[in-house]
Amino acid sequence: MITIRQEQVGDETAVYHVNEAAFGRAAEADLVVALRRRALKQRGVVTLSLVAERAGEIVGHILFSPVTITDEAGGVVTAVGLGPLAVSPHCQREGIGSQLTQTGVEMLRQAGHEILIVLGHPEYYPRFGFAPANPFGIRWEIEVPDEAFMVMALKPGGLDGVTGIVRYQPEFTGV
Ligand SMILES: CC(C)(COP(=O)(O)OP(=O)(O)OC[C@H]1O[C@@H](n2cnc3c(N)ncnc32)[C@H](O)[C@@H]1OP(=O)(O)O)[C@@H](O)C(=O)NCCC(=O)NCCS
Repeated sequence: MITIRQEQVGDETAVYHVNEAAFGRAAEADLVVALRRRALKQRGVVTLSLVAERAGEIVGHILFSPVTITDEAGGVVTAVGLGPLAVSPHCQREGIGSQLTQTGVEMLRQAGHEILIVLGHPEYYPRFGFAPANPFGIRWEIEVPDEAFMVMALKPGGLDGVTGIVRYQPEFTGV
């Protein structure tokens, strides 16, 4: 049985290993460490961090952090960015990534967040309600393939009138 729960003190090493193994490199694992480190000193650096646990083992992790969307007139809307999402290679394709994403989306919705952004696999995220961001006039500050940069309104009309350039927390730069 899989349990999805908020990350707790003591989970750090397991979360690091899940990210490192899933991505096959340390960049995303190091990103999570850097965000967590700043979150200890500053509120609002991490919106939500969830783990998937099976038989006492952490086998998945998802992190959400604040992003800004700045329009041409300089108006700024705060949204949430999904990522990284990682499932241990020996546990993939069992629905764990989906459970982490769906639970996270529901918790963010309950908390009143209105817009969720993701940069990721265009075949994976639409199943959760994401759609390409470009037709909404929402772009990332870095050029990426249109279909990989996606957005979802967490409440009806949540994207109405929202356009502009998305910026993630500085720790994401270069990852
Ligand atoms: C992507 C990832 C989180 C999915 O987690 P998971 O637990 O295996 O996913 P689920 O079991 O919920 O869903 C499986 C579905 O995802 C699809 N999927 C898995 N990895 C995929 C990928 N890299 N690209 C596209 N689709 C992918 C599978 O085809 C499967 O689709 P199906 O249900 O139509 O057969 C996991 O494969 C992973 O950690 N990958 C490495 C890290 C990564 O790429 N993270 C996402 C960054 S955007």
